[in-house]
Amino acid sequence: MNAHNNPSAAGGAPMTPWAIEIDLLEATMRMPDRLLVRRASDMRGYYRDAAALEHLIAAGDPLHYEVLEKPVPEERGHLMVCISRLQPGLVGDECFMTKGHFHAVPATGEIYLCLRGTGFMVMKTAAGLKAAVPMRRHQMVYVPPWWAHRSINTGDEPLVSFCVYPAEAGHNYGDIATAGFPQRILRRGGAVQIVEETANFSRPA
Ligand code: F6R
Ligand code: ZN
Repeated sequence: MNAHNNPSAAGGAPMTPWAIEIDLLEATMRMPDRLLVRRASDMRGYYRDAAALEHLIAAGDPLHYEVLEKPVPEERGHLMVCISRLQPGLVGDECFMTKGHFHAVPATGEIYLCLRGTGFMVMKTAAGLKAAVPMRRHQMVYVPPWWAHRSINTGDEPLVSFCVYPAEAGHNYGDIATAGFPQRILRRGGAVQIVEETANFSRPA
């Protein structure tokens, strides 16, 4: 067998082609095989106002975000697709966000096609580069290889994106939980602000 008739990286039978229904208006995937759910209590350590987060958890531990997936083998050559659905809300004056991650295989990029809502994709590299790219319906954000990424919902409805990335990419959350990102997105009296992370914004003790 050569590379043309054996597309499976594992050397077994090639995957059978498949299709799924993605409702672009409802911004949902029909019958996902895997559902990752993160609630407020999964986000301890990520927001600058830890007391506000605890208040939210005590008040019912609301849903933060869901990732709907049709997983494929985590092998080079395959493409992982998912829908990320991030709820609107505030922790203190900081907008709801995903944890954010580097890819475990860092030289892998990702495409986020925003289907609904408004927000930002904040990004950073290990070498200290930073970026905050607006997300809104019909906007595609390209996350290049080597950039950690976190989506943030600045609006009043869910921020929903369709994501595609190399299936071998994996997730590396390690540094994010402790170091965070250089920029935080706040909403005060309806006005959205990008705030540079400084010592003044360190988490309350
Ligand atoms: C995959 C990817 C998304 C996120 C999802 C949740 O590489 O970027 O599917 O995994 O938006 O965010 P995290 O994983 O940071 O909790
Ligand atoms: Zn990713």
